[in-house]
Amino acid sequence: MSQQSHLHIQPLRLHNRVALVTGGGSGIGRAAALAFSRDGAKVVVAGRREAELLQTVALIHEQGGDALAVPADVSDSAQVQHMIAETLAHFGRLDAAFNNAGVEGFAPVSEMTEAEFDHVIAINLKGVWLSVKYELEAMVAAGHGGAIVNTSSWLAHGASFGSAAYSASKGGLDAMIRAIALETGAHKIRINNVNPGIIDTPMARRMGANEEMLRPFVQLTPAGRVGESDDVGDVVAWLCSDEARFVTGQNLLVDGGFTIAGLR
Ligand SMILES: NC(=O)c1ccc[n+]([C@@H]2O[C@H](COP(=O)([O-])OP(=O)(O)OC[C@H]3O[C@@H](n4cnc5c(N)ncnc54)[C@H](O)[C@@H]3O)[C@@H](O)[C@H]2O)c1
Repeated sequence: MSQQSHLHIQPLRLHNRVALVTGGGSGIGRAAALAFSRDGAKVVVAGRREAELLQTVALIHEQGGDALAVPADVSDSAQVQHMIAETLAHFGRLDAAFNNAGVEGFAPVSEMTEAEFDHVIAINLKGVWLSVKYELEAMVAAGHGGAIVNTSSWLAHGASFGSAAYSASKGGLDAMIRAIALETGAHKIRINNVNPGIIDTPMARRMGANEEMLRPFVQLTPAGRVGESDDVGDVVAWLCSDEARFVTGQNLLVDGGFTIAGLR
């Protein structure tokens, strides 16, 4: 037998799968879209800003992958249903979904308006619920199982000044998926959250993150640095793969250890 006959070429772990990413035009969502593609998935990149979505699609094409941009506001039920319908129309199936779209909205309770509170909850909590609702409808109807991951936050565990609405929205996600995991198990659909720590993204920059501001956080972080979007995107792709087949209903901190160190 020749030496070569012992070589096995493993298919990529998301080969022939279709993955949807919301908030895929920037930051953590873009990194996850690229990770899904590297793992062999076809990717639907959804979000509010079409130009950024098309940039992510172009990056996926550059690395040899297949992707489609679908503009959608996740707080609008009709647009979420359209997003799923476009996914099925273009790629024929949905195997993995990363519900990652989110907004910051930090202010002390005394200064935050009701409209600002409603905005944070409408996108970060209801937007994920709507996305999950219609993703499940498609996955259950197809009957081949699936995996869903949502972006929560370390701020579901801890707090920072002015984070009441944001922490409530992300804490709501952590509680919500435990109940959903009970409903979806029989359909072979897993649902988990990633809870990023401080990740260097456009959102973090908008909130004033720079080297000086982040120094105290970095000093507390066992990993000795803030996170990069890929640190989260790679975990999301793994959670959506069969390697994580026995993991469901979990909130997974991806924070270099910051939360356990900061909250001890
Ligand atoms: N950066 C961090 O330190 C950090 C930490 C914990 C959690 N998060 C969460 O990570 C997720 C991604 O954020 P990011 O840090 O990559 O910042 P980001 O601002 O680059 O990404 C957020 C994305 O969501 C999109 N979006 C916002 N509202 C939307 C809507 N209604 N419909 C569709 N898309 C919408 C934005 O256009 C953007 O592309 C968010 O849910 C955020 O709350 C971020």
